[in-house]
Amino acid sequence: MRHLILLPAALLLSTLATAQSTTAPTPPMGWNSWNHFAGRVTDADVRSAADMLVSSGMRDAGYVYVNVDDTWEGNRDAQGLLHTNSKFPDMKALGDYIHSKGLKFGIYSSPGDKTCGGYAASLGHEEQDARMYASWGVDFLKYDLCSFQDNMAKAQAEHPGNPNIEKDMMIAAYRRMGDAIKATGRPILYSLCQYGVDQPWEWGPELGANMWRTTDDIDDSYGRMIAIGFSQAGLSKYAGPGHWNDPDMLEIGNGKMSEDEYRTHMTLWVLLAAPLLAGNDLSKMTEADKSLLMNKEAIAVDQDPLGKQGDRLYESGDLDVWTKPLSGGRVAVGFFNRSWSTRKVSVDLREIGFGNGAHVRDVWKMKDLGHLSGLVTDTLPKHGATLLIVGR
Ligand code: GLA
Repeated sequence: MRHLILLPAALLLSTLATAQSTTAPTPPMGWNSWNHFAGRVTDADVRSAADMLVSSGMRDAGYVYVNVDDTWEGNRDAQGLLHTNSKFPDMKALGDYIHSKGLKFGIYSSPGDKTCGGYAASLGHEEQDARMYASWGVDFLKYDLCSFQDNMAKAQAEHPGNPNIEKDMMIAAYRRMGDAIKATGRPILYSLCQYGVDQPWEWGPELGANMWRTTDDIDDSYGRMIAIGFSQAGLSKYAGPGHWNDPDMLEIGNGKMSEDEYRTHMTLWVLLAAPLLAGNDLSKMTEADKSLLMNKEAIAVDQDPLGKQGDRLYESGDLDVWTKPLSGGRVAVGFFNRSWSTRKVSVDLREIGFGNGAHVRDVWKMKDLGHLSGLVTDTLPKHGATLLIVGR
């Protein structure tokens, strides 16, 4: 009798795990409208982003999701069907266009009444909305907590004796939409956006989530980017094929950081096995932006099939060394200089499993440094980063 009960549960769990890992075996890559266009985004902007993902080489470098963030929503009709607003006349046609370019289509909603931008969201319409996304050919859903926090706070005020009510409601809301998208039968990557509150890395995987935000929003500033990036220390054990920690989207190309600062951004995000969702205006990419976003070896660190997130090895004042295990026994090493002056940073290869030394490659300099042993040192400009691949 015990076996009869346990076996189906085990089978169900393994089926879920398989669906999760086939949807996002490596961290999702693509482009999202929010960081640059925010509430101004239109159908034409998204189509031209799709065109430029192809013409710039971004698609072929792996950036395949084209994600429409908040502000596409209109009103619900008498049947409860949500319509788009005038900026997005035909979502099915937009999805078809995106797919015709060999790209995938992402959309955004919230579990409450309203999205963060104050637009109509999915509360009470989860199944209906999920079916509509599937009919549009949606491949990715970002589900953003926002106004549902008001529902949670209200319930907490009404039930002061239940300290878990807010967390329980949030998890139930994310489960509801997770179940609704599973029920459509279409593989839709499920991205939780609730700013890292209540450790989503502990309960996200079981809901079928493929990624979850670990922090509040990024912005295009060095201070905010490093505050988020370095706060990821200790989270590596929660990521793996099918389920990823998400320290938020990329700001590279948005213009308010220096090239060295954007290099730090990309280096840290690939070591974190973070989803790489570019958030820039693709029509205005400089050569420096392109070489950071499309460096094949840096992307390969992020996308390594082992699916291990990197973590901090050591920190001393404004200097940091992070490592990420790679397939084939190799290790990616990141050096970071957060100070305002040029500084030297080193790693001891003996401390990362290479007692007899190893081949070392500098990814950003695109240079083989040869077989090295013991201490490997680089000189970093202020706010700079170095990315090394150790071992062959
Ligand atoms: C929140 C999210 C952002 C973006 C906006 C849209 O702030 O964290 O990534 O989706 O909402 O309103």
